[in-house]
Amino acid sequence: MTGELSPIDKAKFVAAKRAADLVEDGMRVGLGTGSTAAWLVRCLGEMVRNDGLKFKGVPTSSRTAQLARDQGIEVISLDEARWLDLTIDGADEFDAELNLIKGGGGALLQEKIVATASDRMVVIADAGKEVETLGAFPLPVEVIPFGWQTSQALIEEMLVSLDVMGRAATLRMNGAAPFVTDEGNHILDLHLNRIGNARQLALVLNQVPGVVENGLFIDICDTVIVGYGDGRIEVRDITEGTVERDRLDFVESENLFTDIGD
Ligand code: A5P
Repeated sequence: MTGELSPIDKAKFVAAKRAADLVEDGMRVGLGTGSTAAWLVRCLGEMVRNDGLKFKGVPTSSRTAQLARDQGIEVISLDEARWLDLTIDGADEFDAELNLIKGGGGALLQEKIVATASDRMVVIADAGKEVETLGAFPLPVEVIPFGWQTSQALIEEMLVSLDVMGRAATLRMNGAAPFVTDEGNHILDLHLNRIGNARQLALVLNQVPGVVENGLFIDICDTVIVGYGDGRIEVRDITEGTVERDRLDFVESENLFTDIGD
C-alpha cells in the first residue's frame, strides 16, 4: 500500500501518526485543517475505533468536522470545550522559532482561535515546509466581503513601508467565484516573497479596516513534528529546546492508506 503514497504524503503521514500518540484519554483536542491534519484525524479515528481512545475533538473547519465525525471521533464546539489541552495542525511554512504561515486551506481564522485557546500547539509538517525566513508562501489574510477591494488597496499601501519584498494582494478564487471561508469571508493572498519582521506585520495587518485575521502565527506553536519521506520523524520543542528523532514503521498502519483522499 505504501507504494501508492508519494514521499510527501508519507512524510505527512508519519508526522501525523507521531502526533496522534500525544492524545490521551479525557483530553480536549483542537483538530487542524488541511491534508496533513486529515492524516491526523484518520490516525485518531483508528485509535478511537481500535484502541478505545476517548477524547473530544474541536475541529477548525467544516471539512475537518465532517471527517472527524466520519471517523467516529466525538466532536464538540470550542464554546463547549472552552479551553483545550492540545491542538495539532498543519502549516504552510515554519521557521526556526516555530513562527508559522497558515491558511493555505482557508481555515486560518478558526485555526488561530483554536490554537490560541490551547495549552499546547503542535504543528505537523513535511520537511519541505521549513524555511529560513517566512514569506515565500503567499500570506493569507481573511477580509470581510464588504469593501474587500478597499481593504486590498489599504494593505498594499501599508506594505510599502514594511520590510517585505513584494506587495501584490490577490483575491483567492474558487473557480470563477471568490473563495468563501466558513465564516462567509474572502481571502487575500499577499505575495511578499520575504517577510523581514513577521511579528510587526502580523500586528499591523490586523489594524486595516475589513481585515478579520492574518495567517501569521507568532509565538503560538510550541512543538513541530517534522516528517520525512523515508519514515524518519523529528520532534522539535521550542520551550524545552529539545530535538527527538524517531522512525515509523509504515506496515503497522497499512489499513489507513486504503481510504486516502482529502
Ligand atoms: C489550512 O487553512 C492551513 O492552515 C493548513 O494547515 C495548511 O495550509 C497546511 O496544509 P497541508 O497540510 O495540506 O499542507
